[in-house]
Amino acid sequence: MANKDPIRVGVLFSETGVTSTIGRSQLQGTLLAVDEINEAGGIDGREIVPVRYDAQSSPAIYAALAERLIVQDKVNVIFGCYMSSSRKAVLPIVEKWNKLLFYPTLYEGFEFSNNIIYSGAAPNQNSVQLAEFMTANFGARVYLIGSNYIYPYESNRIMSDLVLQRPNSSKVGERYVKLDASERDFQLIMADIRATEPDFIFSTVVGDSTASLYRAYAEAGFNPKTMPIASLTTSEAEISQMGADVALGHFTAAPYFQSINSETNLRCLERLRKRFGFECVPNMCWEAAYFQVHIYANAFRHTGQDDIGQLLPRILGSEFEAPQGRVRIDPANHHTSLYPRIGVANSRGQFTIVREATRPVHPDPYMVTHSLGDWTATLSTLEL
Ligand code: ACM
Repeated sequence: MANKDPIRVGVLFSETGVTSTIGRSQLQGTLLAVDEINEAGGIDGREIVPVRYDAQSSPAIYAALAERLIVQDKVNVIFGCYMSSSRKAVLPIVEKWNKLLFYPTLYEGFEFSNNIIYSGAAPNQNSVQLAEFMTANFGARVYLIGSNYIYPYESNRIMSDLVLQRPNSSKVGERYVKLDASERDFQLIMADIRATEPDFIFSTVVGDSTASLYRAYAEAGFNPKTMPIASLTTSEAEISQMGADVALGHFTAAPYFQSINSETNLRCLERLRKRFGFECVPNMCWEAAYFQVHIYANAFRHTGQDDIGQLLPRILGSEFEAPQGRVRIDPANHHTSLYPRIGVANSRGQFTIVREATRPVHPDPYMVTHSLGDWTATLSTLEL
């Protein structure tokens, strides 16, 4: 008789703590995909059952729960993590037990694990395009602000390397704040920005304090038309926390924005609304969390099991028609071919897409080559 046992998978995001707004959206992207698969009959009649824990935005809790998922709950696959510090905490655990982590977040690159599938953007798929766009439109004197952990340090290093290749470029400031920074912490930095007059600010601030940064900027009276904030982590979710008026005119580079006007995206958003109403704010990490579950399920359909030895050869090279476009897991580096885009925050709390790649850009996590991708002409003028 065919095996009808449910398939347990680990689901490990931050439902509380400083990155919970984005973490909950990743959870909802994951659960939406699980529901879709189960409603369509599961995997050969087997239901996917998420074993879900709240990692509370703490790398130590991520590590403990990853171990528990593997040892006690006996899962072979974990979907999870946002901050790179949490991925770095889970990496040795999935390697030790030879299990698989699907990681749905943009990050700093310069990493490979045979036990991780990276479905968010590598720096050659967001930083390169953002550096080109910002320096071409605003100038090459950059001020870097980040949260105090590995992703901001590394992502700021990459951004300054890219910007400093331009004529008349300089790094006019670089500051780090704690993960729970308040508006007051950013006010001191705004005073320095007033004194140094950069052409643009690059923010690698994550989580709840993102709203405090943008509010401090607005209260300082700066003008996004002449000195905007550019970011890889300020998504629709963070904008929902700070308010559309505060975000207006600032830039983000990402493979996915909620405003993508494709059939696949619109239908997916409709299913999301039916399942979660307007509680979920779709964004780049929500989308990666969503499509990576389908990549997993499609591989499982071929193998009938999800131990890494069977599953990995089926995942590598596989493709999926995602809300951003057709994505593919690169067999050489486990990262994903994605569609770089640049959006400017508009008055509806959404992004107006001002540039986008017409073809997917291969992931190059070690930044060996810096292709900009095949950009379409700027889609709209920079009228805000
Ligand atoms: C991140 O920490 N990878 C956003």
